[in-house]
Amino acid sequence: MVQLHDKTFGPYLTAEEIQQRIAVLAAQINRDYAGKEVMFVSVLNGSFLFMADLFKQITVPAYIQFVRVYSYRGTGSSGKVNELMGLNETVKGKHVIVVEDIVDTGLTIQYIHRTVTAHEPASLKLASLLLKPEVYGGNPKIDYIGFEIPNRFVVGYGLDYEGLGRNLPAIYQLKENEV
Ligand code: XMP
Ligand code: MG
Repeated sequence: MVQLHDKTFGPYLTAEEIQQRIAVLAAQINRDYAGKEVMFVSVLNGSFLFMADLFKQITVPAYIQFVRVYSYRGTGSSGKVNELMGLNETVKGKHVIVVEDIVDTGLTIQYIHRTVTAHEPASLKLASLLLKPEVYGGNPKIDYIGFEIPNRFVVGYGLDYEGLGRNLPAIYQLKENEV
């Protein structure tokens, strides 16, 4: 059991389960990209541990860059405005894999997919450690998924609750009786 701020979280995925799954994903990527170079685009902050553990197991030539997505309410418009910070022009002509921590409604990954596509990569695939299929519409397709999980808030292994919990080596789920 883990307490962060006012909330309690119970064990969900162990560090061993996470590492075993990452080894499988890395092997799949190494196979799929044999003879090619890969440009990883890691979405901060949440994906940093997943990205690091995955990256260490990549055996094809691999570049990496880190981006951040900011969401805010635009002045004078009702909708939410996204901004992708840090995307390097060098994605052009590269085989790009975007690496996320979690896909929930998919709004974030959809925005990133559109923006990276506009930079004309040679190819583009998406990887996410976690995905909530009860919420995600399925578009765009996530090519490399660590774990499909129920629609319940999780923390640990890069994911936070109000800033805390990122350093936990395992993943924890919000307790049933809390919201
Ligand atoms: P969307 O809905 O755009 O959301 O797919 C993706 C972003 O929302 C955050 N998120 C979570 N963060 N535990 C977290 O720590 C969760 O269960 C969770 N669900 C969504 C996260 O920042 C992600 O990039
Ligand atoms: Mg967060």
